[in-house]
Amino acid sequence: MNPLASFPQARPRRLRQTAAVRGLVQETFLRPQQLIAPLFVRHGVRIRKPISSMPGQTQLSVDELVAEVQALQAVGVSAVLLFGVPDVKDDLGSENLDPNGIIPQAIGAVKRAVPAMIVISDMCFCEYTSHGHCGIVNTEGATSYDPGLPLGYVLNDATLEQLGKASVVHARAGADFIAPSGMMDGMVGAIRAALDSEGFGHTAIMSYAAKFASALYGPFRDAAEGAPKFGDRSQYQMEIGNVREAMQEAAHDESEGADVLIIKPAVTNLDVIQRIRAAMRLPLAAYQVSGEYSMIKAASRNGWLDEQKVVLETLTSIRRAGADMIITYFARDAAGWLR
Ligand code: PBG
Ligand code: ZN
Repeated sequence: MNPLASFPQARPRRLRQTAAVRGLVQETFLRPQQLIAPLFVRHGVRIRKPISSMPGQTQLSVDELVAEVQALQAVGVSAVLLFGVPDVKDDLGSENLDPNGIIPQAIGAVKRAVPAMIVISDMCFCEYTSHGHCGIVNTEGATSYDPGLPLGYVLNDATLEQLGKASVVHARAGADFIAPSGMMDGMVGAIRAALDSEGFGHTAIMSYAAKFASALYGPFRDAAEGAPKFGDRSQYQMEIGNVREAMQEAAHDESEGADVLIIKPAVTNLDVIQRIRAAMRLPLAAYQVSGEYSMIKAASRNGWLDEQKVVLETLTSIRRAGADMIITYFARDAAGWLR
């Protein structure tokens, strides 16, 4: 006798018989307008400099950035996240405060060429500092030197002041969102106050709320040329094993006025996305980081994985966990595949 005869209801495969029925019961959707493309900008003209650890990704000069943004718009991607690769680096990361620096130039050019494109400006100092850390480092003799703290410590409050000033520069250039990524305590509040006091109350903040100290950022540090010259980032980024702490970080950022919260990396932190989604009402972004990109790319280029299927599967899983939007180096390709 058929063992299922007494359980006639236990037949979920009835709903998997055709593409039409599968479509009817599909719960999670992925759309081009939910994708955000990270882009690296550098000085110069007609530059598309390949990033060796991220096949398919390039550092772009401003003119090439504009062309890339137009291509993204054509496939339905409506937001970009900009990272600057400056010409000169110093202890304080001064180029990040320069109204003629690489990022203000890039923002202006994108906004003039494609006014509807949402420009999110990554706000951190590691690309701009000679030591590669995300803020001001405690150094003997420097104006901000604090003898009570170890040498090499990234000074929180001195860094907040710089973050506020640089955010105003990016907002004045036309950024729609400022995205502080350095995991300094109070960074959202400091940036919100600086923006408001300079008349940028309409500029939004997308905060890296839960950013784990992850080896998956390895390829990015080539791309943005911002690897720390000593130590690592574990004095400011989060310990991998911690989820309650991630929720606490998210709550702090919400109370300081964040408009959107970012969790990263994405696929290794689906539980964190799910828990923050359940606890909070702000929109959430997940960042599928450089290492996640490069792993899929490398295996696909070897013929070991079907790139398109794996990319759409990971992006859908990230959405299912609770991310409203996804920052991904696959944005342009994935949007093309979804059309
Ligand atoms: C810099 C920053 C990093 C990333 C985004 N902003 C790297 C880091 O913290 O070292 C990672 C992005 C990626 O790996 O794709 N604050
Ligand atoms: Zn940084």
